[in-house]
Amino acid sequence: MEPTHVASGPGRVNLIGEHTDYNDGFVLPVALKRDIRFVFRPRTDRHVRLFSGDYNESLEFDLDAPAYIPERLWGNYIQGTAWSLEQTGLRLVGIDAVLGGNVPRGSGLSSSAAVEVGAAHAFLAASGLLDALPGPQIAKAAQRAENEFVGVNCGIMDQFISVLGKENHALLIDCRSLTYELVPMPEEAALVIGNTRASRSLASSAYNQRRAECERGVEILQATIPGIKALRDVSSAQLEAARAMMPDNIYRRCRHVVSENERVLHTVAAFSSGDLKTVGELMDASHESLRDDYEVSSPALDAMVAAMRSVPGVYGARLTGAGFGGCAVAMVAPGAEQTVADAIFDQYPKATSIWPEVYITRASDGAQVVRI
Ligand code: GLA
Repeated sequence: MEPTHVASGPGRVNLIGEHTDYNDGFVLPVALKRDIRFVFRPRTDRHVRLFSGDYNESLEFDLDAPAYIPERLWGNYIQGTAWSLEQTGLRLVGIDAVLGGNVPRGSGLSSSAAVEVGAAHAFLAASGLLDALPGPQIAKAAQRAENEFVGVNCGIMDQFISVLGKENHALLIDCRSLTYELVPMPEEAALVIGNTRASRSLASSAYNQRRAECERGVEILQATIPGIKALRDVSSAQLEAARAMMPDNIYRRCRHVVSENERVLHTVAAFSSGDLKTVGELMDASHESLRDDYEVSSPALDAMVAAMRSVPGVYGARLTGAGFGGCAVAMVAPGAEQTVADAIFDQYPKATSIWPEVYITRASDGAQVVRI
């Protein structure tokens, strides 16, 4: 039998607003022109048959009995997504699907969210339920798959932008209310992504530790700022006033989050007045804050950012995603992309002895389902 549909979920790059999503704050990501695709046909029963072209592995499971399989990590994202969609009360049909894609894996460009969101769209389309859930709820279901089935404690940003991204736009997402606003990317802004290809082995333990430090910060601040629920509710002035009550590392984690939320809103204002110089300065400041206060950069990321910034025509550059490796993003004048790539290939290996990858990209649409 022939396949009938293709469902895709894109990866993402975050322009600014890092480690703010799980603090109920603001983020400004774009969806990439790189995605994970499911070529599939619906079944009439509740069986699922999958083949991953990238892993050259297959997996079958029943929608009535999804079960975490340690030796099929890629498949757990798909099983988890089906499980999570059914948690919302929907009843799915099975699919036969082949999947593959070009979102670099384990590089901080959200290949996991791309798999979840692609899978969610395949299951919903197969079941005639594409209109049953609004986009933000699909994103929440995908996040729940990752949090509760796969066991990774991520925020909502990656799944949200993978569902709701829009060509030539960034998305300002309010991670508390899950409302969002499209922010047009000016013609004068091109994006270059540098993949450090450095190990991210620290990323998940440090990510959970940072989340705990933010929660500790909120607990301390609640003593003097009644009614706050998250760092989203705290201003820089309030944080400064409470500084003496906080251990220094907790204070600096909070200072990153509070200032980063302010930078996101400032960036959106600068975009709307066409002030790319200011956007670039805010991206640079975000990197410095992530490096010095949040302490999630790495020598490889700092070297990547330094190489990007060494080229005329670069407005700003910063690490993107959770940190500790993965990718950095630069906003550059169109026409400067190749010069930036050349500078990365020249300078970054000398600093790190690692050969990087470079992707030149534009903001793309979110998840799609196409009938073949
Ligand atoms: C990872 C998580 C996101 C977000 C970023 C940091 O990408 O999946 O939810 O927390 O790190 O901004």
